[in-house]
Formats: sequence, structure tokens, C-alpha cells
Amino acid sequence: MESALFSPYTIKNVTLKNRIVMSPMCMYSSHNEDGMLQDWHYTHYVSRAVGQVGLIMVEATAVTPQGRISAQDLGIWSDEHVLGFKKLVKMIKEHGAKAAIQIAHAGRKATVDGDIVAPSAIAFNDRSKTPKELTINEIKETIEAFKNGARRAKEAGFDIIEIHGAHGYLINEFLSPLSNKREDEYGGSSENRYRFLREVIDAVREVWEGPLFVRVSAHDYTDGGLTPADYVEYAKQMKQQGVDLIDVSSGAVVPAKIDAFPGYQVAFADQIRNEAAIPTGAVGLITKAVQAEEILKNNRADLIFIARELLRDPYWPRSAAQELGVSIESPKQYERGWL
Ligand SMILES: Cc1cc2nc3c(=O)[nH]c(=O)nc-3n(C[C@H](O)[C@H](O)[C@H](O)COP(=O)(O)O)c2cc1C
Repeated sequence: MESALFSPYTIKNVTLKNRIVMSPMCMYSSHNEDGMLQDWHYTHYVSRAVGQVGLIMVEATAVTPQGRISAQDLGIWSDEHVLGFKKLVKMIKEHGAKAAIQIAHAGRKATVDGDIVAPSAIAFNDRSKTPKELTINEIKETIEAFKNGARRAKEAGFDIIEIHGAHGYLINEFLSPLSNKREDEYGGSSENRYRFLREVIDAVREVWEGPLFVRVSAHDYTDGGLTPADYVEYAKQMKQQGVDLIDVSSGAVVPAKIDAFPGYQVAFADQIRNEAAIPTGAVGLITKAVQAEEILKNNRADLIFIARELLRDPYWPRSAAQELGVSIESPKQYERGWL
């Protein structure tokens, strides 16, 4: 059997050696609370590059200090952040992996000191702070912050940028009618709720010509919320704006119960891919190579994002290759112990 998981994938000018993506995972380890990378981040990301992951995606990285989920999040809100990322990108690429970064704003899910912001002044749950409703001016400043984050990511040498539009963070809060009750041009109709993301994508595209991904939460799992059918329509618009791939997650815009079973989000990636005719990434409880093969060979997604399994096994690509009975290259230094 030809392995799909270990076949290369080209998006624009970037060729990944396989379909395995290290899904973005916050490490909450920027201990000085200045958004800067620490030794931990280099060890963590580079280990997975040594483990032969095709694309390493750096965790949600805040475009403003106020947009951090926690004070220990990574940041890309100042030019001083570029140097650390430049070093990380170089180290990742030394092992044949490509490097991506997820740029993010936490919106009402930020837990930092001071005011937090959202499309509407509605708290996520009864334990969280009530956000301030963003003014039009603040919306424009936030869009500019995403653009500057993308410019800095480019300066650092990243191959791919992902905009975080999922998990109930700021962009997701604009998209969903459950969290967006605005009465101006950023709220109300589906088109209006999409306006913020539309403007973020256009702004990023002014400074970034390379591959652009957007992560979405394709299901709100709540009456009156969004469903995969809504995201098919949004994906068509994103495609028109030059987005290259939709990374399909789900949930977390409101506290809803999710039945998480193996591959529970794959059907959404499949629907968006095949109804909006845009490449997708599948994520969520994908832990076995045969699962990944099934998804890719049945044309349900183009890339496989692996999160927790890569925490347990940083060399998961090697384990997956063994499971499939295919051989993959090892780091040269490890040849004697790889098989
Ligand atoms: C420790 C941890 C941190 C995470 N941080 C992020 C993040 O920064 N951005 C994001 O989009 N998802 C984040 N996620 C979600 C994962 O990327 C992934 O979508 C989710 O864990 C499901 O995939 P899995 O079953 O392979 O773990 C995080 C998950 C974990 C376990």
C-alpha cells in the first residue's frame, strides 16, 4: 500500500515532506510574561522536528498583550519578538520540517490583568470576566495588530501562517451569533459577523503572500449557534480571499458539552473540503496511522494535525511509519537506532 500520510504536500512555494502537522499547543511557558520564547520552547518544538513531523506549528501567539489567553503566552506584538522566532525557525528547518505560527487574539477568554475585549460585553461563563465591547477604532487597531504579527512572522522566516479563528477566541466570537450581539456592521447578519475575519485576512494578505491557513470551530454544539453548513459558506469566502487551507476544529465559543470520540471533527473537515472545494486539515483524537490513512485516502482532508499524541510521543511519525510498514528517513545521527 502506498502511504498517503508520508506523501509530500505542496502549498504555493512550500513542500511538506509528509502530511503530519504538529497541532498548535499553548505551553504557557513565557515565564517573564513578556511573550518571549524560553529554552523550553526550543526543546519542545525542535524535538518534534527531529521526530520527522512535516510541519511544526507554533502555539497560539498573541498579536496584542491584551489578547493573551494567559500572561505566560507567547507574543508577537513587538519587533523585539522576531529574533527569538528567527532562531526557532532556523532550528526547526535544520531537521527538514517546515515552520508555521498561529497568530491569535483571545478576546473574552483572555485571563490577563486589566480590561479584556470582545465583540459584545458578554462573559464566557459565570467565572470569567465581562469583556468590554470593542469600539470601531479598537477593531481597526486589532486588525492592524494581526497584520503586524504576520509581518513579523514573515521576518522570522516562517513558511506558513495560521490565523486562529477557533475555540471561542476573538475571531470566533465575532463569527458566532451566540457571542456577537453587535448592532453595527460587525454584527447581525452572517456577512456582518464575517466582516472582522474578512478584514483580518485582507490585512494579513497585504504583508504575506505565502501559504495562509485559518483554524475554525466548525460547530458551536448549541441551539442558535453555527454548524458546519455555515462554515462551508465562510470557507468559500475565505477561498476567494486567498486562504489556502481551513484547519477544522470545533466548539468552545460557549460552554457546551462535546462528545469527543476518535476523529470526531473529521466529518466537518470532509464537508468543508468537499462542499467549499478548499483543502482542509483534520484534527481531534487522531492517534493512529491507519486513521490518518483513511482520512487522506478517502479525500476527507489534506493534512493531519496531531496534538496530544505528539506530547506523548515526540517521534510519532516514526511510530506511524512502523504501524504502516513503511520506512522513513531518520535524522542522520540516529540511523543506527531508528529501525
Ligand atoms: C496543551 C494543549 C494546548 C493547546 N493549545 C492550542 C493552541 O494554542 N491553539 C489551538 O488552536 N489549539 C490548541 N489546542 C488544541 C489542539 O491543537 C488540538 O486541536 C486538540 O488537542 C485536539 O487534537 P488531539 O486530539 O490530537 O489532541 C491545545 C491542546 C492542548 C492539549
